[in-house]
Amino acid sequence: MASRGGIHALLRTLRRTSSYAAGREIRPGPACVLLRLGARALSGDAALCSRPLSGETHAELLELSHRDPDRFWGRAARDRLTWDRDFERVQDCDLQQGRIRWFVGGKLNVSVNCLDVHAARDPNRVALIWEKDEPGTEERVTYRELLEMTCRIANTLKTHGVRKGDRVAIYMPVSPVAVAAMLGCARIGAVHTVVFAGFSSDALAGRIQDAQCKVVITCNQGVRGGRLINLKATVDAAVKSCPTVKSVLVAQRTNHSVPMGELDTPLEEAMARESAECPPEVMDSEDMLFMLYTSGSTGKPKGIVHTQAGYLLYAALTHQHVFDYSAGDVFGCVADIGWITGHSYVVYGPLANGATSVLFESTPVYPDPGRYWETVQRLRINQFYTAPTAIRLLLKYEESWVKRYDRSSLKTLASVGEPINNEAWEWFYHVVGEGRCPLVDTWWQTETGGVCIAPRPAEEGAEIRPAMAMRPFYGIQPALMNEKGQILPGGGVSGALCVGQPWPGMARSIFGDHQRFVDAYFKPYPGYYFTGDGAHRTEEGYYQITGRMDDVINISGHRLGTAEVEDALDEHPDVPESAVVGVSHELKGEVPFAFVVLKESAEENQEDVLKELGQLVATKIAKYAVPDHFLVVKRLPKTRSGKIMRRILRKVAMEKADGLGDTSTLDDPAVVSEIVQAYQRYKSRTAKA
Ligand code: WT7
Repeated sequence: MASRGGIHALLRTLRRTSSYAAGREIRPGPACVLLRLGARALSGDAALCSRPLSGETHAELLELSHRDPDRFWGRAARDRLTWDRDFERVQDCDLQQGRIRWFVGGKLNVSVNCLDVHAARDPNRVALIWEKDEPGTEERVTYRELLEMTCRIANTLKTHGVRKGDRVAIYMPVSPVAVAAMLGCARIGAVHTVVFAGFSSDALAGRIQDAQCKVVITCNQGVRGGRLINLKATVDAAVKSCPTVKSVLVAQRTNHSVPMGELDTPLEEAMARESAECPPEVMDSEDMLFMLYTSGSTGKPKGIVHTQAGYLLYAALTHQHVFDYSAGDVFGCVADIGWITGHSYVVYGPLANGATSVLFESTPVYPDPGRYWETVQRLRINQFYTAPTAIRLLLKYEESWVKRYDRSSLKTLASVGEPINNEAWEWFYHVVGEGRCPLVDTWWQTETGGVCIAPRPAEEGAEIRPAMAMRPFYGIQPALMNEKGQILPGGGVSGALCVGQPWPGMARSIFGDHQRFVDAYFKPYPGYYFTGDGAHRTEEGYYQITGRMDDVINISGHRLGTAEVEDALDEHPDVPESAVVGVSHELKGEVPFAFVVLKESAEENQEDVLKELGQLVATKIAKYAVPDHFLVVKRLPKTRSGKIMRRILRKVAMEKADGLGDTSTLDDPAVVSEIVQAYQRYKSRTAKA
């Protein structure tokens, strides 16, 4: 099921009509009226790589970033980004109000910063290595080629009526075309919203409707772990209920032909008709760059808004310093572009730094559990960034799956998505890294734009502790709060993790609902950004993340609001009520556990109803959101004011029923023993099965 010639066939077609084919030189677009203050980033030489900004030690920089954030960030922005117009003010932020603005009055184009500046200096440098699902079939795309693809997609979008500020949904797995689609939006000032290609058509439709997207970019099929996924069919189903969508652009990942309807245009053919040059739109620092939907503790997924300059600067700076990236390195972040990790550390951070970024399309176990390390050997990957769930899966297999491959290229190992347990940390560090590469546990969120707490940067030789995010990045000032909203000073304390100073990468809003943004992140602890996570600070001042404090759960690093699952379950006519909590799972970290109340009439065909419920969640959200456990109960534990006490359900499901805590606020405490008994019956049934 080889792809139809792959990306190089596409590039060959494109080149036939390309201006570059005629040997024209690439010059940075008009957006490059260069404002090169200080040393310039990583593009040309390695000069800056070992020295953070210019000349100072880590301790000096950290101190400056706290004492005089405007000087720190102002200098970083002028050193690292290419501006069309310099900014007037470094920041205009008020955390009380949830107002965040950085580099006010500045103008730039993000795609110019990620492509033109590098293509102008070194057009044949490899920007992307697409590690396709089929091992050994990787394809390389240079900065010049990626710029060209980006311009052609940008022009295609324009032809389809997309203008500055319009929203474009991208529903495709990681590939060079997907990256060019993101950057093509950035080129013309359109706002992309990438939807993870594992989401159902309903979930996709909900996001397209909320964002009011004009265009959807997808591909005929996806290929993952040797399986084909009919993405176009999912898009067809979704756009039926999305009147704002005027066009669907369809890339060809495989040679399977899919039915094309009125809205559809074959993407590669359209690109071939367009010019390979596209003048970049001059954007304001605070214009929207993209939005990305993520789950909250209540309500529908929220479209987290990121803007141009601050986001890009933060992604670039963290990419260099957290992972110790140097010019010439091959950076391997195996995340999908459907998540923020893919945005910041597959696309924007690495490309802003002129890096070679790996696009990993496959799974850790395809065709066998040696896939990651075979890829590391073949592509000579220097930084390898993955998630604890993948590590937990791999450590179950023989070490020989790792050891048979040459991992001498590796310099940094990194983890993200959920707390990494000790066993996984030790295996990753000793077996994969041979105790030779720093392993950095990076804590951050969709909302933070980039890594906020990680063992790096740090002074040369500084200690790294297993399973600990440890140190705040430049400009990040974490604070821990108790239940009364008071700051917990000193070491040996645990509380709600907040951040007390704005940073350029932080989210600006929730699309279409700024008040929700203010309420969720800035109301709980006035003057602070609230993360939703709990954390512990050691005596030495190191941070360890303890997990979510709200009704958000984390399944294999995928964030999910339990309320979303409940909404899906409650749509079933036989389900008056349900409550979903997260319980621990060996591989996935957490899985959803659903307590459902059924109508009496449905009790006889319970088994069927429960099957339907699983399917309902898969269609409304995604397969990964389907609860692993369903427990039918007569009623749910509620307070006198009618609020479901999920805390109690969590304890029951985690088998900690002897420590249920205070149940005196329950409307009827007898409900607890009912549920415990139902759980015990469920347990003995599943144990037998
Ligand atoms: C939530 C954010 C940031 C990219 C991936 C997830 C959890 C993330 C860690 C870590 C402990 C972590 C937190 C956070 N989380 N990284 N290193 N240690 N917990 O992004 O989907 O926005 O989820 O993931 O609970 O709030 P996201």
